[in-house]
Amino acid sequence: MLNIKFVTQNRTIQVEPGETLRSAAIQNTLSIYPNIKKILNCRGRGLCSACKVEIVTGNVGAPNEIEKKNLEKQLKANPNVRLACQITLTDEMDGLEVRTHI
Ligand code: FES
Repeated sequence: MLNIKFVTQNRTIQVEPGETLRSAAIQNTLSIYPNIKKILNCRGRGLCSACKVEIVTGNVGAPNEIEKKNLEKQLKANPNVRLACQITLTDEMDGLEVRTHI
């Protein structure tokens, strides 16, 4: 099990490796989408960028092509901005800290 801390909500959840960060948050009733994007989002298909998070602590690897395309400007300003639906949690990510609603 991995411990993943959601800084905005001040909650730490335990997650099995292999889940996406988005699905782990949703299964633990943590809001990952700000405001109206709770309804208007692409449900994890990498199309809307509504699931943007900031990696506060930990390494989730390099952004994939979907993230590079959708977060082009944000990644230049802050390379720790990522899409939760594109991050698959692995054993190396134990202790990850994430800020949502950015
Ligand atoms: S949920 Fe739409 S990009 Fe992640």
